[in-house]
Amino acid sequence: MSDSDRLAMLLRCSQLLTSSLNLQQVLENLMGQVVEAIGAERGLILLRDGPEAPWRVRVAQGLDANALEREDFSISRGLVERVFCDGKSVLTSDALVDDRFKQQASVGLNQLRSILCVPLLVSRRLMGVIYADHRLATNAFDAESRSLLEAIAAQASVALENATLYEENQRLHEEQLAQTREELVQASKLAAIGQLAAGVAHEVNNPLGALLVNLTNLVSFSPDPLYQKRMKLCLGATERCQNIVKNLLTFARGRGGEEELFELSPAVSQTLDLLEADLRLHQIVLQRELSPAISLRANYQALGQILMNLILNARQSLTEVERSPKSIWVRTMGLQGKICLEVVDNGPGMTPEIQERIFEPFFTTKPIGTGVGLGLSMVYRLVQESRGEISVESKPGSGTRFRILFPETGS
Ligand SMILES: Nc1ncnc2c1ncn2[C@@H]1O[C@H](COP(=O)(O)OP(=O)(O)O)[C@@H](O)[C@H]1O
Ligand SMILES: [Mg+2]
Repeated sequence: MSDSDRLAMLLRCSQLLTSSLNLQQVLENLMGQVVEAIGAERGLILLRDGPEAPWRVRVAQGLDANALEREDFSISRGLVERVFCDGKSVLTSDALVDDRFKQQASVGLNQLRSILCVPLLVSRRLMGVIYADHRLATNAFDAESRSLLEAIAAQASVALENATLYEENQRLHEEQLAQTREELVQASKLAAIGQLAAGVAHEVNNPLGALLVNLTNLVSFSPDPLYQKRMKLCLGATERCQNIVKNLLTFARGRGGEEELFELSPAVSQTLDLLEADLRLHQIVLQRELSPAISLRANYQALGQILMNLILNARQSLTEVERSPKSIWVRTMGLQGKICLEVVDNGPGMTPEIQERIFEPFFTTKPIGTGVGLGLSMVYRLVQESRGEISVESKPGSGTRFRILFPETGS
């Protein structure tokens, strides 16, 4: 082949290789070029993900690619291994008399004569080999074929890198899309439940009001002490219902997205009231250690969401362990010239590796359907929006402490 033929061939090859981003297509184009360029009888491109990974035949010409997966692998595996490991090409003009192949039964068995095999690099990493052979002809390939094939392999490297990156990108993109879709379904489910709860609470609020007014009147209806006692019990229970509904409505509607100045401990108490029954149901003791007279400037609704998430996480973690008692402490206090809110549990705790990632969106260690991994990332954002800082302290086996420091108001 003359120099200009060689150049023209390399140019054509380069055009063909860069004409597609589909990895399989690039490999097929490459195979076609190889067989034509060096006049091989059969050709193969084998790829693998690493030295220990299995070989995969990505394209074959003149060979049945399926047969290669079986035992009647009619090329020399040993040779392919060697090219892959050394990263150097191997050329033989007659394998049957070549000392290098004495040990390799497959060469004799398959009557292999001319073989040319060159390594294939992608991003400077050995990814595979291009293999070509001729079973009958000796001297089918020469040094020139080898350098041509090496030049083609070098060109292919860039095209393969692009196609691999593209494929990887495409895969990641699809994965992310599927995950986002799932999260959206979850989020809209939650929003729907929230709306439903708010709607029900609203509906229940009116009859509860009527009950309360009438019960209050009825308490003094009869002087019978037993009657009085029973009526007071009814009144107490109805008041509790009204309180729960009120809290639920506050939580669902919020007081708008504006910041306001409010008393921290009563606000915390209001959210805790909502959660206490559920915690009791899980045999968890809720310890309130709330300091009076701390006013906080923040978004009232956001504070409720922060607490809800921290307590829900603590509750979920406590269900994983055997403890007696299982406890959650909620504390408010002044600390280091700041306003401090703490949620502490004596649950299973977290390893440092997990702690590092808990504020990442979608990070969860919980099974599908239990956690979506958005709770703490939302908490983090809400705390930041209130110019606060959140920190975590935890050790496997000895519980977890979340501490939020808000700036002092009025300063
Ligand atoms: N109190 C806690 N105790 C132990 N692990 C926790 C606690 N709070 C959060 N975590 C860990 O942080 C992860 C992320 O929490 P979060 O963002 O609320 O998402 P999710 O609760 O949906 O998993 C949890 O999966 C869990 O591994
Ligand atoms: Mg959570």
